[in-house]
Amino acid sequence: MNQDTINDIIGWDIINWSKAFSFWDKHIDIKNKQLSCLEIGARQGGLSLWLALHGNNVICSDISYKNQQHELDKTITLHKKHNCENLISYEAIDASNIPYENKFDLVVFKSVLGGVSIGSNTRLEQQTINSIYKSLKPGGKILFIENLEASFLHMYARKKFVKWGNKWHYLKLNEMVSLFKSFQKVNYRTVGFFGAFGKNEKQRQLYGKVDTFFDKLVPKSCRYIMIGIVEK
Ligand SMILES: C[S@@+](CC[C@H](N)C(=O)[O-])C[C@H]1O[C@@H](n2cnc3c(N)ncnc32)[C@H](O)[C@@H]1O
Repeated sequence: MNQDTINDIIGWDIINWSKAFSFWDKHIDIKNKQLSCLEIGARQGGLSLWLALHGNNVICSDISYKNQQHELDKTITLHKKHNCENLISYEAIDASNIPYENKFDLVVFKSVLGGVSIGSNTRLEQQTINSIYKSLKPGGKILFIENLEASFLHMYARKKFVKWGNKWHYLKLNEMVSLFKSFQKVNYRTVGFFGAFGKNEKQRQLYGKVDTFFDKLVPKSCRYIMIGIVEK
């Protein structure tokens, strides 16, 4: 994939978040397999784009498509730009209540779990993972990239400077791992520390390079991105 395509897929702290591709490549080959895929919480549908560019069939979904036509329009425009809209269909699916059973080879999400409980008075992360589990075929996989609580500095900066920082539920690494206890295989890595503090994408690019250099020195519990692949 060229850099412009990666930018369109990832869109934020691109150096750190795009490390997902090399990690997933070690565990799965998605090229031209005509896999049946679902992206949840897709908004602009970056991961749907990635799956379709590799010849797979995707339902690109987000709860917001129900009443925010402009979000869906932006998503379709992005997919048309890359000439892959013929492999993608669109649905307004609630990730905590997916209306499919034993259907998908792959379910993907990026930066979604921490937001599923916003506006609800119960925590919905486990219900969301259970709902994905039900929608997967036996042997089906979830590929995901998610924000982690990370260090106290991350939590402080989010509360102070990020609009949605008080509403988002940032999970700890061990909380994330425990969500997948019904799955047969769980593989993950964590990356990124400084990238979270960039005020714009140019700064995040610079900090992402610093992270690539220092990642191994930062304790896993202080890294802010979890990249995972789990198998039903
Ligand atoms: C931070 S955005 C991430 C969007 C996209 N995945 C990305 O990485 O750019 C979180 C998305 O999750 C969606 N969302 C929140 N709760 C949801 C739910 N219960 N079911 C499906 N989507 C949900 C929101 O509408 C929003 O588009």
